[in-house]
Amino acid sequence: MRIADRMGTIKPYFFAKLGARIAEMRAQGTDVIRLDMGSPDMPPAQFIVQKLQQAADQHDRHGYSPLGGSPDFRKAVANYYDQHFGVTLNPKSEVIGLIGSKEGLFHLSMAFLGPGDVALVPDPGYAVYASAARFAGAEVVTMPLLEQNHFLPNLSTIPADVRERAKFLWVNYPNNPTGAIASDAFFTDLIDFAQTHHVLICHDAPYLHVTYDGYQAPSLLQVPGAREVTVEFNSLSKTYNMAGWRLGMACGHAPAIAALHSLKSNLDSSHFLVTQDGGIAALTGDQSWFSERNTVYQERRDIVLNGLSQAGLTAYKPQAAMYVWSRIPEGRQSAEFASALLEEVGVSVTPGSFFGECGEGYFRISLSTPTPNIEEAITRISAWL
Ligand SMILES: Cc1ncc(COP(=O)(O)O)c(C=O)c1O
Repeated sequence: MRIADRMGTIKPYFFAKLGARIAEMRAQGTDVIRLDMGSPDMPPAQFIVQKLQQAADQHDRHGYSPLGGSPDFRKAVANYYDQHFGVTLNPKSEVIGLIGSKEGLFHLSMAFLGPGDVALVPDPGYAVYASAARFAGAEVVTMPLLEQNHFLPNLSTIPADVRERAKFLWVNYPNNPTGAIASDAFFTDLIDFAQTHHVLICHDAPYLHVTYDGYQAPSLLQVPGAREVTVEFNSLSKTYNMAGWRLGMACGHAPAIAALHSLKSNLDSSHFLVTQDGGIAALTGDQSWFSERNTVYQERRDIVLNGLSQAGLTAYKPQAAMYVWSRIPEGRQSAEFASALLEEVGVSVTPGSFFGECGEGYFRISLSTPTPNIEEAITRISAWL
């Protein structure tokens, strides 16, 4: 049996291959420190876990749940947007629950894109935007995120024919992998661009609450007119340290939410109600614990920045998201650099090239590893260099 031709558009996911190599090294006794993936090491607040436990004891929480998320989960998402961003969403038509935001990013592309369409994606960027567009048969046009432009795409350089054919424009602020943030002026220009060129803005925003130095990240839906041209993806993974729970949401542009709902109702049967109940507790309960968690990430960020600087590497200081984006030494390639670092001193980082051509010359360090391990990893990197 031959697999479908469209499978040729995607490669095995980088972290799957890396995880297998690390498991092999650990089995041989190597102490590998993982600074590659962004999976929060700290737990969610205790009251969230307690709600999950209580819900699991209820006999009526174990059947199929409403497609697109329970009405209460969707209301809790609307409540969260109102409370944090002053954005009023209709939970029935402008919110959908996702099994983690990653599947939603992929499926929105499946619902909208096809041959002849163009998806504009950031480079470097989260790999799913491009892989989903290619899988759907669409053309991917990259928008370079360059350090000299604060890792924002330059909309004025998008060629006229691409503007006309583009259906999607992906952005992600606070940004993975660079840690960059968007200015209000950029967000306003983006909405203007979408209105002028009839492009759907897909804003992937799972890091809105992982912020440092007092910075507060805005939702794109706060910009006047945004909900008519924007779908914002969000997630409980990083905000609430709940990555394994697989709870996410897409909000905004009602026709896009309806299309996603229609596709998803054919391919999944929504989410375990018990998990959604825990998610509701997270979204509607005490939110003050983020700041303590963010202080821990910020301390780790500073350890990494100081260590890299002492080792002679130049890194970008992030005000948000949980990553440090650093240059590799002159004359090396990022994949070779990351692989040598892993094999020779047991420190795993993500090569910039995984995020696109413009990521070459960089590597990414994730701050979601206990502080002593980060300190040890930085010591190893310095000694190795
Ligand atoms: C930019 C970005 N988008 C989406 C996701 C997916 O998050 P989840 O599927 O856990 O909601 C991640 C995860 O690392 C991410 O970095």
